[in-house]
Amino acid sequence: MTVHIGAEKGDIAPTVLMPGDPYRAKWAAETFLDDARCINEVRGMLGFTGTWKGNPVTIQGSGMGMPSLSIYANELIKDYDAQTLIRIGSCGGMQSHVKIRDVILAMTASTLSTPSRGIFRELNFAPCADYGLLAAAHDAAKEKGVPTHVGGIYSSDVFYDERPDLNEQMVRHGILGVEMEAAELYNLAARYGRRALAVLTVSDHLITHEALPSEDREKTFGDMVEIALAAAFR
Ligand code: HPA
Repeated sequence: MTVHIGAEKGDIAPTVLMPGDPYRAKWAAETFLDDARCINEVRGMLGFTGTWKGNPVTIQGSGMGMPSLSIYANELIKDYDAQTLIRIGSCGGMQSHVKIRDVILAMTASTLSTPSRGIFRELNFAPCADYGLLAAAHDAAKEKGVPTHVGGIYSSDVFYDERPDLNEQMVRHGILGVEMEAAELYNLAARYGRRALAVLTVSDHLITHEALPSEDREKTFGDMVEIALAAAFR
């Protein structure tokens, strides 16, 4: 047990999928894993462990934002020895060629700040995905026929943004989408020598102001889970 995760040591698999929403973790585990059992309920941040094609997998909610994800990813890595951590979540599209429902595989994650800023201070570290996972996820997404983009994303500290000029600079520099967790996941994976990737569905759009209809959310989330699982065990 850790401060925020109630699981015993052997209850967490080396491969962990991390949706922001704990109820998504429950849905994904019940839908895609065999023999899924709940391994964490602390603070309602549900986690489940089961198998996928015989491979052990944990699906653990991360909560929203980098401070929350950082707590769970730190404990998963340092206390439970998680080796592969894949965020599955939503993002806001930032380029006109990136459409609602498309998948973005985050090659890099730019930020203004993360919980790791205390370490980096004046240094602008470049958080990036594990290339093997990224390439495998790209193959899996192509096989599924899901329109997919690979490139940089922006991990923001705020959902309700009061600095539109920052978004403008991100758009200008080709950033594909905005979310709130990936950069810190990549920082931690780099620090501890683990593999990380963020697989994201475009759920809303900063340029077109479209939003994913609620009836499509389950299907698109399911596609991400399958892409993440296929990438982890390729
Ligand atoms: N901003 C930040 N995070 C997000 C967004 C957004 O527009 N959409 C989904 N996650």
